[in-house]
Amino acid sequence: MKISILGAAGSIGQTLSLLLKLYLPEGSKLYLHDVKPVMAGLALDLNHIPTNIEVKSFVGENPSPALKNADIVIIAAGIPRKPGMEREDLFKINANIILNLTKQIALTSPNALIGIITNPINTTVVIAAEVLKHYSSYSRDRLFGITSLDIMRAKIFVSEMKEKKLNCINVPVIGGHSNKTILPLLSQVINVDFNEQEIIAITKRVQQAGSEVVYAKAGSGSATLSMGYAATCFCLSLLSALKGEDNILEYAYVEGDCKYAKFFTQPFIVGKYGIKEYKKIGPLSKFEQKKLENIINYINQDILLGEIFVKEFFNNK
Ligand code: 2OP
Repeated sequence: MKISILGAAGSIGQTLSLLLKLYLPEGSKLYLHDVKPVMAGLALDLNHIPTNIEVKSFVGENPSPALKNADIVIIAAGIPRKPGMEREDLFKINANIILNLTKQIALTSPNALIGIITNPINTTVVIAAEVLKHYSSYSRDRLFGITSLDIMRAKIFVSEMKEKKLNCINVPVIGGHSNKTILPLLSQVINVDFNEQEIIAITKRVQQAGSEVVYAKAGSGSATLSMGYAATCFCLSLLSALKGEDNILEYAYVEGDCKYAKFFTQPFIVGKYGIKEYKKIGPLSKFEQKKLENIINYINQDILLGEIFVKEFFNNK
């Protein structure tokens, strides 16, 4: 299997590359691309780790040599937030980056599964979908906005609050990946009861956890280590599915069948060709239902922004 990482020189890209060098199955290939001249050094550095995974580096404006025959492409390229910024504030710069990279994926590795980390995910995934459609290589089953970090954070916050072991806690998180659109479904956590105050507190903390890290890092970026880990777990799930493992349940921001919005973070089963089956989100509490009404409006605005951006780009060409 070949995994390509675009934006591999950034802090998330480097963390992801390191973890994949450690945890990919033996014989896998890891192809790393970035525009920064550090790439040859990064590959050399990683290749001094004794695992049977071939790491190659590619540098320059055109990522296509890194994409040839890729089974999975993860996009981590783009700029991160500074304190006071919302993920949406990254739109102007990151939208163009996603547009250019997705074009190269469409032309070079149109059948790859694509995972997007670059924010604002609610919109960058839509941009990628529209670009892939333009080049007739879009399948909704193969494009994912990676939101696993929201699930990991919710698990930790619940386990801390309720003093329960981490491995006993699973919290579905749906919606999107921005402060206003992340929605943990605490009503679906098995064997744990929450009072109203706890529900409000945890929901808010999960929604704002990314900003909490941005502030704590005091201007030097957003979550990189936990995001790199979350993306690694997601990538390994895709890989297991590609290798034929059945019944792998994942959550990501994808175009699906759900009634709430065209793109939405939801559960699905991955298989050899990407999403095999969409799963039901399940019953929501009154609190979650109410939150969802606003979330849908925000997500629809984010989706529209991406669609208009790509439309204008191709119209002005
Ligand atoms: C976060 O949630 C970086 O969007 C990422 O921290």
